[in-house]
Amino acid sequence: MKIITVGTGYVGLVHAAVCSEYGHEVHAYDIDREKIDAFSSGLSEPIEKFVNEPGLVNIIRETLGKSLHFSDDLEAIIEGTDAIFMCLPTPSNIDGSTNLTFYDAAAESIAEVLAKRKDKRRLVLVNKSTVPIGTARHLEGIMKSHGVENFGVASNPEFLAEGTAVADARRPDRVVVGCDCEEDFTILRRVYSQFVHHVRIKYIQTTPETAEAIKYVANTMLLTYISFWNGVGAKIGENMPNVNIDDLRLGVTSDDRISTWGSFVSNGAGGSCFGKDISSLIYQLRRVNVSTKMLEASFEVNEHQKVYLIDRAITEADFKFNNKTVAVLGLAFKKHTNDMRDASSIKVIESLLGKGVAAIHAYDPLANETAADVFDPSKNALFEKIKYFDSAKEAITGSQALFVSSDCEEFRGFSRTIEDTVSPPYLVMDGRRMIPDYNELVSKSFTYLAVGSMVMRPD
Ligand code: UDX
Repeated sequence: MKIITVGTGYVGLVHAAVCSEYGHEVHAYDIDREKIDAFSSGLSEPIEKFVNEPGLVNIIRETLGKSLHFSDDLEAIIEGTDAIFMCLPTPSNIDGSTNLTFYDAAAESIAEVLAKRKDKRRLVLVNKSTVPIGTARHLEGIMKSHGVENFGVASNPEFLAEGTAVADARRPDRVVVGCDCEEDFTILRRVYSQFVHHVRIKYIQTTPETAEAIKYVANTMLLTYISFWNGVGAKIGENMPNVNIDDLRLGVTSDDRISTWGSFVSNGAGGSCFGKDISSLIYQLRRVNVSTKMLEASFEVNEHQKVYLIDRAITEADFKFNNKTVAVLGLAFKKHTNDMRDASSIKVIESLLGKGVAAIHAYDPLANETAADVFDPSKNALFEKIKYFDSAKEAITGSQALFVSSDCEEFRGFSRTIEDTVSPPYLVMDGRRMIPDYNELVSKSFTYLAVGSMVMRPD
């Protein structure tokens, strides 16, 4: 099949690469020349400057110039195309609605080019990035208004998690395809032939609107699950003596009907999708007069959860942040990424600065640079108090408290490094429950405060 992906962000580039690996003729299109040049180079450094996903560079190297091509000239690549995948950024507006400016601009330029194509074969325009329910229909309207002929619209949402996007795209749990007619379903079955009738992968064919809704419901369900554990499970561990949150999770999730993912209590879930998608779904449902109380609660629990441990440090551990130096370890929203979007660390650092800390010693194995962009001192002079370090040990040195804000493996079982670097009185705030051997620390007079447990201090 001849496929065009529009937009070379992490969704578009991964999709293009994985489709080229199956042997389709893939043209990854973007208006940004710098990106096209970087990807066409086949070199790790320029590619990873834009999208850093394990395994991605290898696929690009293998298929570049054979089944994978990059272009910023849509007209030059349009003839003979079977499917165009829309992989565009869809940020949030202030009111929670989805901003379709980039999407609409791309759709308009595609429509202009398609209206002029010579080859009149059936072509499907597929929404891959998350867009509000009804956007496939909206896309159909744009195409029709330009007189495009013999096309269909479809929704085929991505369910990739950052850091495992290539593996997820090669072996998804399910492929959801929403089309209006059999002709279009056939085109997409040919694109995804390796997943149709797969033993373990569910291939789901439905309407475009249902496919769009599946993505929103899946992400809001995941955040609601996380928020249930943070808002109920963690609170039981924090307030009921002798309740062990880890055993609680094991006991509950051993029920086959209840999943494990999402039950690991934390200082809130971050990343680019959850907040944006739940806000957008709330906006879409309010417009049809549906109560969104439950979704709002999930969102609020998650936001509150991000800074809650700092409030607990004051009320439960009697810690005074004023003029203290606090190390913040793990800046990205999770391990294996430099992505700072909606990262809990942003709220943590802002809260600490608001409480008058003297300095913040920040460390992340991958995200120091992206964090420095987020905490730009020209936007807020307080950000000058943030210093970045190349290792956790260096960041801890000279601090009176530390906050673990992501699940980087190197923080697991970290107590030895802490003991060897700083002396009590010292407060360890563990937002990800990364230090299972906290008893060691407490026995050496450190104070340990984790999400899901009561404060533990020396006798
Ligand atoms: C997620 C979903 O997995 C994906 O299917 C969806 O389309 C987009 O969002 P991603 O954002 O890359 O993917 O990260 P993921 O690893 O799934 O975790 C999201 C957040 O939840 C992270 O901040 C993570 O630390 C947090 N989390 C996850 C918890 O707090 N507890 C858990 O048990 C699991």
